[in-house]
Amino acid sequence: MFENALRAGETRFETKLVGIEDQAGFAAAARALAEGEVVGMPTETVYGLGCDARNPEAVAKVYEAKGRPSDNPLIVHVASKESIPELVSEITPVARVLMDAFMPGPITVIMKKSDVIPACVSAGLDTVGIRFPIHPVAQALIAASGVPVAAPSANLSGSPSPTKAEHVMKDMNGRIPYVVEGGECQVGLESTVVDATGNWPQILRPGAITMEQMEQALAAAGISKPETVVALENKAGEAPRAPGMKYRHYAPSCEVHILGQGDFDQYEEYYKEAVEREIIDSRTPVGLFVSDTIAAEIQVLFEDQKDKILFYTYGQTDDVEAASQHLFDGLRVLDGQGAGIIFAPAFPKEGLGVAYMNRLEKAAAEKVSKAEAPKNERKVLFVCSGNTCRSPLAEAIMRHLWKATEPHVMLGQPGVQASLEVSSAGVATSDGCFYTRYSEEIAEYEYDEDITGERSTMLTEDILKEQDLVICVTNDHSHFLRERFPDLSDKIFSFEELLEDNYIDGIDGEVLDPYGREYEVYQKTAWQIEQILRAVLPEILKKWEMT
Ligand code: TXA
Ligand code: MG
Repeated sequence: MFENALRAGETRFETKLVGIEDQAGFAAAARALAEGEVVGMPTETVYGLGCDARNPEAVAKVYEAKGRPSDNPLIVHVASKESIPELVSEITPVARVLMDAFMPGPITVIMKKSDVIPACVSAGLDTVGIRFPIHPVAQALIAASGVPVAAPSANLSGSPSPTKAEHVMKDMNGRIPYVVEGGECQVGLESTVVDATGNWPQILRPGAITMEQMEQALAAAGISKPETVVALENKAGEAPRAPGMKYRHYAPSCEVHILGQGDFDQYEEYYKEAVEREIIDSRTPVGLFVSDTIAAEIQVLFEDQKDKILFYTYGQTDDVEAASQHLFDGLRVLDGQGAGIIFAPAFPKEGLGVAYMNRLEKAAAEKVSKAEAPKNERKVLFVCSGNTCRSPLAEAIMRHLWKATEPHVMLGQPGVQASLEVSSAGVATSDGCFYTRYSEEIAEYEYDEDITGERSTMLTEDILKEQDLVICVTNDHSHFLRERFPDLSDKIFSFEELLEDNYIDGIDGEVLDPYGREYEVYQKTAWQIEQILRAVLPEILKKWEMT
C-alpha cells in the first residue's frame, strides 16, 4: 500500500533535457510524443507532462510517471484553433467567445467531447478541457508532434506544479524520456479552468484569466448574463476525491503561513514579528517568500541571526503578478533549503489575486494539517450489513491482534503509548439486534475477546465522522459509503482495497458471509478476516506513525 507503481529511485529512462535550439533533440522529443511516449513540456502557466491524447497507452504512462491514479480528467493541448473542432462535439456561443478572446493563453475551456477523446482522458466525463498555450516552445512542440497533447502539470502527485525545467527534471528524472526546456513560466499558476457547456461560464479553477475579463469579452460579443444560468452537468474541476489511502502523497515539506490581508504597508512589521517568534520557537531556519524591499529591511534587522532566515524574493511588495509567477518556485526552493516554516504574503482576492490566494491557501492548509502532532489515539470501525456476524468478528479479531502485538508506542517517541479503539456497525440494520451466537463463540474461544451481550449499531454520519479508519467487509459497502458520504471518503476502505498491494496466497479480500450457516463457515470467515488484518496492520500503524 501507499506506494506508486513506479517506486522511488526506480528509473526507466535516462531523461534528456532538450532545448528548441537543439534541432535533433527537439525533433526526437516531438517524435517520442507522436509515438506514445511522455514528454515534459513548458507552457506559460506551468510545465506539463504531455502525451498523445488519442492513445490510451500513452495516457496510462502519464499517470504512472506522476504517481497518481487515473481518476482526474486531463486537459488537451493544441497548437491551433483549427484543431479544436474535431476534439469536441459542441462549441457553445460562450465557448466560442472565450476561445476567440483568450486563446492562445492561460485558459482551459471545457466543452462536450467528441469520440476522438478516449474515456481515460476525460475520466469518463462527456466533456473535455481544451487549452491552446501561448508559449512558443509549447506551440512548436505540439505542432511538430502532430497530435493533440493531453497533459497534467508535470509535478509528482503532492508537490507544487513545476514552473522551471529543473523542477520537472527533479520530479520526473528517470520516469520519462524527454523534458523540453522553455525557461521559467511567465504566469506561474495553472490555467483558469472554465466550464463553457452552458449559457454562462463557470470557473472551476481560478487562474490568470479572470471572471471580469470573461464578462467583458462576452459583453463585447453581445452576450449578457442570462437570468437563469443553465445548470452545468459536470462540476469536476477539483480532483475527484481519491478513494484509496495509497492515493495520498504529500511532499515532505513544512508548514506554510499567510501574512496580512492586503494591508501592504504593515507587511514589514508582520514579517519581523513572524521571524522573531519563530526564532524563539526555534522553528528555524524561517523561510520567507518576500518582496525585495522587505527582505532588505529584515536582513538589516536580523544581521546577527543570518543563518536562521532563508529568503526567496519575488519582486515588489504589492506585485501580484510577480508573486504568482514565483510562488511555486519559492515554495520548492525554501522547502529544499530546509525551512522549518514558510511565510508568504496575502494579496487581495481580486483579479489574479484570486488564483494566487487559491494556491497559497491550499499549500497552507495542507502543510498545517500535516504539521499537527501525530495522534496517539485512533479509532477504527468495521462495517457490514447487519452488524451481527462479520463486523463483530472483525472487531474482536482486530482487538486481539492489537493486544497480541503490544506494546504500541508513537514512532520515535518511546514514552508515548499508542491506543486503538475498535468498534463495528451495520449499514442495513436496526439498533439492538444480538450478535450471532457463533460470532460470539469464535471471538471468545479463538481470540479471547468477549463480545457476548453486545448489540448491533446502525451506522450514522456522526459515528463515521469520529473514525480515523473505516473498514468495510465488501467493496459494495465501501462504494456505498463513499457515495453517501463523499466528504468522508478518504478514510473508507474495503478489505480488498486495503489489500491491493499486499498479495497473500489464497486471500483476495473477499470474506464469506456466514449468516445463517454452520459454525465451520464462521470459522472460515474468521480465518479470512484474521489473515487480512495481519497483513494490513503494519501498514496502518506506519501510516499513523505508531509502532
Ligand atoms: O495550466 C494548466 O492548466 C496546466 C498546463 C500543463 O496546461 N495543466 C494542468 O493540468 O494544471 P492538471 O491535470 O494538473 O489540472 C487540470 C484540472 C484538474 O483540476 C481537472 O479536474 C480539471 O482541470 N479538468 C480537466 N478536464 C476537465 C473536465 N472535462 N471537466 C472538469 N474539470 C476538468
Ligand atoms: Mg496539477
